[in-house]
Amino acid sequence: MKTVKKAIIPAAGLGTRFLPATKAMPKEMLPIVDKPTIQYIVEEAIESGIEDIIIVTGKGKRAIEDHFDKNFELEDNLMQKEKYDLLEKVNATSNVEIHFIRQKEPKGLGHAVWCARKFIGNEPFAVLLGDDIVRSEKPCLRQLINEYENTLSSVIGVQTVMDEETHRYGIIDPQEQEGRRYQVNTFVEKPKQGTSPSNLAIMGRYVLNPEIFMFLDKQEKGAGGEVQLTDAIQKLNEIQRVFAYDFEGQRYDVGEKLGFVKTTLELAISRDELKDDVLTFMKDLLENSVVKN
Ligand code: G1P
Repeated sequence: MKTVKKAIIPAAGLGTRFLPATKAMPKEMLPIVDKPTIQYIVEEAIESGIEDIIIVTGKGKRAIEDHFDKNFELEDNLMQKEKYDLLEKVNATSNVEIHFIRQKEPKGLGHAVWCARKFIGNEPFAVLLGDDIVRSEKPCLRQLINEYENTLSSVIGVQTVMDEETHRYGIIDPQEQEGRRYQVNTFVEKPKQGTSPSNLAIMGRYVLNPEIFMFLDKQEKGAGGEVQLTDAIQKLNEIQRVFAYDFEGQRYDVGEKLGFVKTTLELAISRDELKDDVLTFMKDLLENSVVKN
């Protein structure tokens, strides 16, 4: 069966929204509880059956390479101290091949994906964006790969957003719907407020056929003067069907501050060893601040 074994994770962004934290540390390494955000993405890819990952990095992103590298000294130390639970955590992503390539100029998401074209070759592949973490019973990317296997068409993950948020996303103009899957009339990157064709927004998970590179090769600039992946997807949709899939699961936007704080709290509460203490703390905090105000 034709399936998807390779994934691209673009991680070249400057992370200006998190300055000064990101002055010397990549935003992808900011931890949610005790795991860097990018590790949540890598784990989702592994759980979805991905075997090879290429991370597109930029300047100042060395910590990401170190994070996914083997650390013999640390492993040896944990082994000597019989800290097997920590050893397991340190090795959580060791069953996937992770490769790195640099995007030399910040020319946009479409350009970052294009930088990995030689690694992908002539195969279908996945793209996972680091600003979107998804918690779901079936991994989000696995849901899209299942659709790919059924249709052999590119599939883009979408979810509903509020009217006032549509201008921040790629948006689809849906046609026919079949269960959670949509045929798509057009894909539009960051429509101006009041012009959005729907509330179904692209959420950082893609399965794409390699023909997408025919359009990314042209390096045409779109919204914000950048090479946009959404524009290439729209072009692909004109020559072969590209579906949108309204995936199941809770999506967290860790690319902005409030989303980051919310995600930290929710994921802390989802952990047995932290749940009670965090909830008690939040209750106290709420009561105290209500009293004070
Ligand atoms: C990117 C994509 C956009 C998508 C969004 C999801 O935008 O270009 O289509 O909806 O990610 O997070 P960015 O957030 O990088 O501006």
